[in-house]
Amino acid sequence: MIYFDHNATTPLRAEVLAAMEPFLKEAYGNPSSVHEAGRVVADGIDEARVSVAAALNVRPDEIHFTSGGTESDNWALKGVMEAEWLRCKTRGTLLTSSAEHHAVLDSAAALERRGFRVDYHAVDGAGLIDVDRLLNTIDKGPKPTLVSLLHANNETGVIQPLVQIGTELRKRGVLFHVDAVQSFGKVDVHPEFLGADLISLSAHKINGPKGSGALYVRSGVEIEPLLHGGGQEAGRRPGTLHAAGIVGLGAATRIAEAGRRVTARRLQSLRDRLQAGLIEAVGDVEIHGGEADRLVQTLSVSFTGVEAEAVLLGLDQLGIAAASGSACTAGQPDPSHVLLAMGVAPRQAASAIRFSLGWGNDEAQVDEVLDVLPPIIARLRAMSVF
Ligand SMILES: Cc1ncc(COP(=O)(O)O)c(C=O)c1O
Repeated sequence: MIYFDHNATTPLRAEVLAAMEPFLKEAYGNPSSVHEAGRVVADGIDEARVSVAAALNVRPDEIHFTSGGTESDNWALKGVMEAEWLRCKTRGTLLTSSAEHHAVLDSAAALERRGFRVDYHAVDGAGLIDVDRLLNTIDKGPKPTLVSLLHANNETGVIQPLVQIGTELRKRGVLFHVDAVQSFGKVDVHPEFLGADLISLSAHKINGPKGSGALYVRSGVEIEPLLHGGGQEAGRRPGTLHAAGIVGLGAATRIAEAGRRVTARRLQSLRDRLQAGLIEAVGDVEIHGGEADRLVQTLSVSFTGVEAEAVLLGLDQLGIAAASGSACTAGQPDPSHVLLAMGVAPRQAASAIRFSLGWGNDEAQVDEVLDVLPPIIARLRAMSVF
């Protein structure tokens, strides 16, 4: 199989599995227990916490382990909004964008149902937030409690100008949550630099295990827990810790950070080869977010006049995995909300394919796609009633 769907999930690296294995076998103690069996596991978790904290350049006690990006996003939004409500007895405003991941959009919708106000900010044709408009909205009031934005978009790879936004939000005393699920391990994600107060991460996007992630919460930020129970994670995220998953996140983080620059250079050259080859060999294609700063391994491209699902099926029959829209919405027939938010026409959005590259990909695989894809598109265009 040729796998070009790394923004959906990535394969587990052998070194990560090796780091996790003891915690699935002999190191089975409860990390909260005081005995040796528990302490061994607590030590493994501490090491992972230090690794994740080092990657973000923050204190280990600001890292809270979760079940992944979805939980981290839910917790950040609901936890901060609810904490302010409990403190002030008024329901505040959340500001986000209409091109966010569903983990944020659906958490925002849940908050709206509970009486909080949510403002959805538009993105431009390149997928970027208009910073001046965003700040204008904030300055005109009401001042939001929290702004939540993606660092890098999962569908297009577009990277938002967060340093500028975060700096301005900090001046205005507005809390800032960043969904860095796609950017962590690929570009610098330092809260101090980004001006972020909360950051969501997920292990399975960086060759770690599924069901493991973290939420960075800057010391001093008030956040209500989503779950209630034991005293784990300073009582903020109760539940017996998923030791193997956490150790896997730590190992995946160390590996991703160590090889980040070399990997980025290699993947950029592969992605650019794929993009240039498709433009030349297929014709009538539209690259989404191509004008913006993008994750170097992501390519979102519409093959005008053909339905994405038909292209994916054709590729799948040849053992090539890619995606249409984001993996989380793949079951839905609607065109990608991210592309629609960028002003892409619905039919063009319905013809968008996302190729997302990762450490296992090489030039031969890119060339294989460049060989087989143009005839698939030509065949589909010839019989198109789309
Ligand atoms: C940007 C973004 N946020 C959040 C998530 C959800 O993360 P998880 O799959 O770990 O729940 C994803 C997963 O696709 C994502 O791409």
